[in-house]
Parts: sequence; C-alpha cells; structure tokens
Amino acid sequence: MSKNINDKLADLLLYYRNNPIDAIEQLFGVTLDDQQKNLVRCSTKQHSRVACKSSQGSGKTFTLVCISMYLLLVEEDCRILMTAPSSQLLSRVFHSEFLKLHAKLPKVFQDFFEILKESVYIKGRPYQILNMVTGSPSNLTSLQGGHSHSYHVLMDEANGISEEVFDTLLGTLGASHRTSFIMTANPVQNHGRFFEIFAKDNPRWDKLTFNAHDSAQSTDNWIEDMKAQYGEDSDNYKIRVLGEFGRFGENQFFDTLQIDNAIENRLPEASYSQYPIICGLDPARYGPDSTVFVTRQGPKLLDIREYKSLSTMEVAAKAVDYYHKWRPVSIMVDSIGLGAGIYDRMVELSLPAREVIVSNKPSNPKSYGNLRAQIYGEMREWLYNGADILDYPELISQLNATSYTYNNRMQIMLLTKKEIKRMGLPSPDIADAIALTFAPMVYGFIGNSVKAKTINRVQRRNWV
Ligand SMILES: Nc1ncnc2c1ncn2[C@@H]1O[C@H](COP(=O)(O)OP(=O)(O)OP(=O)(O)O)[C@@H](O)[C@H]1O
Ligand SMILES: [Mg+2]
Repeated sequence: MSKNINDKLADLLLYYRNNPIDAIEQLFGVTLDDQQKNLVRCSTKQHSRVACKSSQGSGKTFTLVCISMYLLLVEEDCRILMTAPSSQLLSRVFHSEFLKLHAKLPKVFQDFFEILKESVYIKGRPYQILNMVTGSPSNLTSLQGGHSHSYHVLMDEANGISEEVFDTLLGTLGASHRTSFIMTANPVQNHGRFFEIFAKDNPRWDKLTFNAHDSAQSTDNWIEDMKAQYGEDSDNYKIRVLGEFGRFGENQFFDTLQIDNAIENRLPEASYSQYPIICGLDPARYGPDSTVFVTRQGPKLLDIREYKSLSTMEVAAKAVDYYHKWRPVSIMVDSIGLGAGIYDRMVELSLPAREVIVSNKPSNPKSYGNLRAQIYGEMREWLYNGADILDYPELISQLNATSYTYNNRMQIMLLTKKEIKRMGLPSPDIADAIALTFAPMVYGFIGNSVKAKTINRVQRRNWV
C-alpha cells in the first residue's frame, strides 16, 4: 500500500470519526432511519450514557453492531464490551450481524477486521478489541474491562441484566478518557436498572424510544396485526409497537371483572353436556399446599376437590374414587416431582391419566415462555368466553393473584409457585389444576403420552 493511499485512508477515517452516521451508512452500505441515527449520534458523544427502549424488531441490535464496528475502526486504543443476558444472543445474533456487516465493507476496510466467535479485533492491534461476554453474575470477572484510552459498554436486552452486573459494568468506565455505556431493550419490565433510568429524572442519560411507526423495519401490516390481536389500549401494544413500558402494577393475568362474570354465569346443562369431561390433578408439593382435583366439561367447571396431607399412595387412591365419580376421558396430572410417582401409579391402576410437564416448551413460543404460561393463556380465553365457574373463594383469590411478566424474548411467564409463596400470596393449587385441563388443547394425545401439536382456532373453540 503506497503512502499516498495510507494518507487518504487516514483522512477518510478522520472524517468518519467526526461523522459517525456518514461512516456507518457509507462503510456498510446501509440506510439508517431517523431513530437509528439518533441512537448513533447520542452513542458517539465523548462520554455517552444512552438508554434506548424500543418496539420489537426496530433494528436496535443491528444499530448496536454498527456502532461497535464503527468505534473499533475509528477510535484509537479502544476496547468494547458487548453484552446481553443470554449467550445465545451473543453467539447467534451478534455474531451473524458482525459477519453480515463485515461482508458489506469495502475490501480495504474488510481487511482491517478479524472476526472470531466471541471477539472482533483490528488485525495487528489485538488490544483494539471487542469482546462478547454474557452479562450474568457468574461472569463478573470477565465483565471487568481492561484499561484503555477509550472504553465502551454496549448492552442489548438490558432489562434482563441483573443490577449487580449493571452496577459492576458502570463502575468499570471510570478510568478511561473516552467512555460510553449504551443500552437497548424492549421495555418489558417495570423494574430493574433499565427501567429506573427512564423512571428517574437523571440528566446524565440520553433516553431514547424507538417506536414501530417511525421504524423503517416495521411494516404497517405488522402494526395492524398487533392492533387487531391485542388492542391499542393493551400493554402488549404499548410495549411491542410503541416502545413504551406497560402500566404500573397492571400485571394481573386475569381481569377481575371477567372472573366475576364467570362466577355469575349459570349455563344450562344442554350448553356443556356434549363436551368431554376432563379432570385436572395438581398434587401437593409442600406442607401447607393442597392436592386438588377439578372437573371441567367444556365451558363449565363442575367440581373442585381439595385434600391436605395425603401420601402419594393416598392421592392415587383418591384418584380412583374421583374417576368413578366423574368418569372423565382423561385426568391431566402435573407430573413434575411428586406427581411423577402418582402418575405412574394411576397408569398402573388403568386410569386415563395423562402427564403434563408444565415447564416444557410451549407450542406457541411467540406468546408464551413455557407450557404453564400457555395453558393459563388457554384458561384465560375460556374464562373470557362464557365459562361458568364455581363461586369458590379460594379459586377466586388465586385467579386474582395470578400475575405475569415478560421474559427477554417478549414471552409471557407466570410467577412460579415458589415466587408466589415468597410474596405471601395464596398457592394457586386450584387454578393450576384447572389450567391442566387445557393441556389437551395445546397437545394432541398419542397413547398415554402427549406429543406437541398445534391446534387450530376452530378446534380450540370446541373447548375440548
Ligand atoms: N437500517 C437497517 N438496514 C438494513 N437492515 C436493518 C436495518 N435495521 C435493522 N435491520 C435488519 O432488521 C432486522 C431486525 O433488526 P434487529 O434484530 O436489530 O431489531 P431489534 O430491535 O433488535 O429486534 P428485537 O426486538 O427482536 O430485539 C434484522 O434482520 C436487521 O439486520
Ligand atoms: Mg434485538
């Protein structure tokens, strides 16, 4: 390479250092929308602190990757820590975005970079490096940055990063001359450091919002779908489309009014007698918990039966009595832990037991984080569509106390029984038993085991 070309490159890099948006657009051959440009602008200030909440799929991860490659190229003595709560995101999404952008660079710039699985560095300058490290508390040592003139922390899906990790990372910035701390996330949690930055009046932070209406990545069709599916007034729409946090404290899973309607509803026998009878069995796991049997026939909850302090064998014996009383087509058994032995015994006794492992994957991962959340979702649909439930105070308080959060993948998760008990709320034994009766809607039966099968909406309406 002649000196002349080197000089030209140096001039160009100097220009790019002062013009980050031009740099990204020209180097990578991409067009940033105004929201993305704003994120680039704020992130490339000398000591930037940026929190960007965003609608789904509006290009925040992409922009972070652009910014990081840009910084590596134009900054001298620069280290970058790229982090996210899951190693999957780092290895799959980040890494492939790096490769894609790298492929778009003009050859002369391509040759600067070495892209490895967990790092990207400038050839011949191994200290000029970007490391991808999972942002988990078990990784704290690897998250402590080394000293360099310029040090940048880029954090994606920041709402999933623990306070301990966040505080450690913020603390690592002190020693460098030029620093930035850039966070992006879908606003799925109303707590944690990411949320606090938006909730508090802290002028140190640039707080940005990407919304789908202004994102070049989101189509009008998608926005209309979201509107139709969730309603403009829903938290889902606020979070996914507007990039806004959901309403405070509104993480109650069942609407109280809808619960009341279902209690008052009195269905004539003819409206449910054609449906199969399905029982749910939630065996007690802890001392004060109840073993609960429930019976549902289509839209009608027929029975709730609670027992305390039964042994495994006694539960199986009760199951025989319960079966003879209701003659269900199946008894859905939560078979995690103690339930496994009960289920086995019930099968030995030739009862139509089906095991449900609520921690399994959902068949609808777009909406739910696990099978438990999905069968609760089915139960909610049932409850809101003309169900007739018993006026049973424990059930009503359990339904009202059911709350949910979103995980980092925007999937609904319900609080676990352990979390619910830690908060001093009633253990949802009856609600869980009813939710189990919806497992056949998610899973088709094959012999005594259940295999994943998505059921279409017309079938769903039949309230198996
Ligand atoms: N300016 C752009 N030009 C070209 N492609 C883009 C641009 N911005 C984003 N993309 C592409 O759009 C897709 C969605 O972007 P990205 O994954 O960064 O969104 P996100 O906001 O991180 O989504 P999520 O909410 O799922 O985390 C990706 O395939 C990405 O490569
Ligand atoms: Mg992303």
